[in-house]
Amino acid sequence: MLLRREVPADEPAVESVVARAFATGDGAEPVEVGLLRALRAGPDWLPRLSWVAVDAQDRVVGHAVCSVAHVGSAPVVALGPVAVRPRLQGRGTGTALVHALLGAADVLGAPLVALLGEPAFYGRFGFVAGTSLGVLPPEPSWGPYFQVRTLTAYAPRVRGPFQYAPPFRDL
Ligand SMILES: CC(C)(COP(=O)(O)OP(=O)(O)OC[C@H]1O[C@@H](n2cnc3c(N)ncnc32)[C@H](O)[C@@H]1OP(=O)(O)O)[C@@H](O)C(=O)NCCC(=O)NCCS
Repeated sequence: MLLRREVPADEPAVESVVARAFATGDGAEPVEVGLLRALRAGPDWLPRLSWVAVDAQDRVVGHAVCSVAHVGSAPVVALGPVAVRPRLQGRGTGTALVHALLGAADVLGAPLVALLGEPAFYGRFGFVAGTSLGVLPPEPSWGPYFQVRTLTAYAPRVRGPFQYAPPFRDL
């Protein structure tokens, strides 16, 4: 497996991986696919933080993306969706993608990465509950599932209400 930035030719394969990873079994298109399209079409998509995992034949087996978000008025980065082709899950691809995007976001100078996800998965990457650092989710009910990972440029003044890019808010 190799990781690299997404290029335009990857878009259909990325969409397919996301659709399969988030499939609910009822045949309906998962909301994450529409979210991805809306993010991609808007100003908050971060092309330098859209990465694919590919196999030896350069077929996309996983994808992760970050978009612009805010804590108060401070720009930060939101991670997700993260998706791995179902039959290839559990082999380290998702872990590699998250590490890669955290490294890339750090190089780009983002103060923190935020997400809504399973603490059991994301805790291993240094994510902690946002509330423990004063970064507050838009929905208090998100509780421990709203997590942040601080990066080198982090300063404690980056605190307050968190806001995703509009496509997340429209979900
Ligand atoms: C979550 C996901 C991206 C992880 O990718 P992956 O390649 O399977 O992950 P890895 O092989 O690197 O890591 C596997 C570990 O993640 C854990 N894990 C996977 N999904 C998890 C979940 N929903 N909750 C908690 N832990 C989870 C596994 O239990 C395993 O833990 P272990 O290392 O302690 O045994 C992938 O399972 C996926 O696409 N899931 C469906 C979509 C999704 O839920 N995405 C995340 C929300 S944006």
